Amino acid sequence: MPKLNENYQNVKDSYLFAEIARRVSVYEKEHPDKAANIIRLGIGDVTRPLTKSAIEGLHEAVESQAAAETFQGYGPEQGYAFVRKAVSDYYAKQGVQVDPEDIFISDGAKSDTGNITELFAKENVILVPDPVYPVYVDTNTMDGKQILYMDGTEENQFLPMPDDSVKADIIYLCSPNNPTGACYNKEQLKAWVEYALKNEAVILFDSAYEAFVSEPELPRSIYAVEGAEKCAIEFCSLSKTAGFTGTRFSYTVVPKELVFSASDGSTMSLRDMWNRRQSTKFNGTPYIIQYAAARVLTDQGMEECMQNISYYMENARMIAETLRKKNISFTGGVNSPYIWFRCPDGMESWEFFDYLLENAQIVGTPGAGFGVNGKNHFRLTSFGTHEKTKEAMERFKQLF
Ligand code: MLT
Repeated sequence: MPKLNENYQNVKDSYLFAEIARRVSVYEKEHPDKAANIIRLGIGDVTRPLTKSAIEGLHEAVESQAAAETFQGYGPEQGYAFVRKAVSDYYAKQGVQVDPEDIFISDGAKSDTGNITELFAKENVILVPDPVYPVYVDTNTMDGKQILYMDGTEENQFLPMPDDSVKADIIYLCSPNNPTGACYNKEQLKAWVEYALKNEAVILFDSAYEAFVSEPELPRSIYAVEGAEKCAIEFCSLSKTAGFTGTRFSYTVVPKELVFSASDGSTMSLRDMWNRRQSTKFNGTPYIIQYAAARVLTDQGMEECMQNISYYMENARMIAETLRKKNISFTGGVNSPYIWFRCPDGMESWEFFDYLLENAQIVGTPGAGFGVNGKNHFRLTSFGTHEKTKEAMERFKQLF
């Protein structure tokens, strides 16, 4: 009989967004007359179609697969050099230098933030903020690692800062944050880098929402902070930036400077380990997707993405305005597609989820799904259409 990884008994029965989908589907079955009326502002899934550059890139790549001279079979597991260069150039436009050799192309920041845990032994102490994107917690729980939490609260604007009395080996940071929309400034990130360097810790920095940062003084990459290449791995994706939630393309930066001692006194490079892991367990992102991604990362491609981002940020503005009118305190909505607010009338977040679904047919995300500090908070996304977001806000105003 196989011995099972019993750590799986310690993760929640289902993933947050699967549970939301389940509850919505039950509601639809029980209220078939209202099913068509449901407005989904829960999971952060985009609604704008792919941009012109992405579509042209996809078409060209498909055509090139039809000719023997240009056909591509297995590609390099790390990603084609042309797209790693495109990512490096994209960073350079933000004033950040990233060596293409340190860039690994993948199918999603979710996969990579989850898989990276394999590089670290079970004995590591993991530090995550609460509220938190559930993937960081679930994957470390599946590994049986010890997790410490740092509180994100209204008092610290949901931006927990390092505490010297806490000794962590691996720290997860996400900025702009999912779910709170809060964004670290450069001084705050500098404090995290200093903590990591002092404690020989590694920061796993999720910058999946960097393209939504509109205030130029806010860093979009941890590498905007000096010394971060000695302590941080960064995960980024085109899911929200370019509407690739269904198309799938991400990149992870593992700097060559990340070299640590092994227990036998030798040294090990995280970049080499990740390369080794990927070349055994991953055959690369599809060629046609990498080709289209390189198009997206050009100036023209990004200009088109920014038009979609402005569209979503107009939705964020509508949601924020509604909450302001109702005197409901919130974070996010600026530099972030998410709006995180306190549930009205002292409601608990799953209670509010049901209340909103039943009375206004609006689906959001209960804060409790992101940790105990979210139990009285709720997240709405701005990734809907203008029409649906406007309608949802009309219903919200009437309800409260
Ligand atoms: C979310 O809604 O938090 C995200 O869409 C989930 C994800 O990016 O995996």
